[in-house]
Amino acid sequence: MADLQTLAQAIHGCTDCGLARSRTQAVPGEGAPQARLMFIGEGPGFNEDQQGRPFIGPAGQFLDELLGSIGLARPDVFITNMVKCRPPNNRDPFPGEMEACSKHLDAQIEAIKPKVIVPLGRHALAKWFPGESIGKVRAKPRRFGGLTLFPLYHPAAALHNGALRSTILEDFAKLGDLLRAPEPAEQPPRDEAAPGPAEPSPESHQISMF
Ligand code: URA
Repeated sequence: MADLQTLAQAIHGCTDCGLARSRTQAVPGEGAPQARLMFIGEGPGFNEDQQGRPFIGPAGQFLDELLGSIGLARPDVFITNMVKCRPPNNRDPFPGEMEACSKHLDAQIEAIKPKVIVPLGRHALAKWFPGESIGKVRAKPRRFGGLTLFPLYHPAAALHNGALRSTILEDFAKLGDLLRAPEPAEQPPRDEAAPGPAEPSPESHQISMF
């Protein structure tokens, strides 16, 4: 399995879709290599394309504020996007571009092994739950394999519609609650030679995500 730095090099050199022709530079993502919490946005905008860092424009400033509201900061989490290169004029990424870029995101997820992934907005939501509406599924944890998905509105939504600002803050508070909740203890495989319920481990009520 490749480490994040190797993956970032591959992303910087990637020419697998047309976005490589219009980008200033690719934006692999940044944060803690072993982050338990990973945010996945849509794609870099103007500022991100210029500086090579995710979420550093107005939506990113709101994301920083949201993280702060639950006692977190960027170095505690990993932040990346569905596509690593800016779509021209900030248009939506095309399905083929997200498909071409998915190998990079999948490899990042495999390297980081987060416990909770927060898809920000409908494009990231569709990676796991195609056809579902972000307005309906937001702020509800869903198990997916070994992961918990916790979809949220994209922070940019509050820049276009100020009324969503307090909704997004409330949804983030629920994310904070989820992270503080005890993790379900791993169930050991049933031992046929020793039937009966296993004793809970002493840690099983003490573990939280942070
Ligand atoms: N919007 C996104 O989806 N990602 C960024 O990195 C910046 C804005």
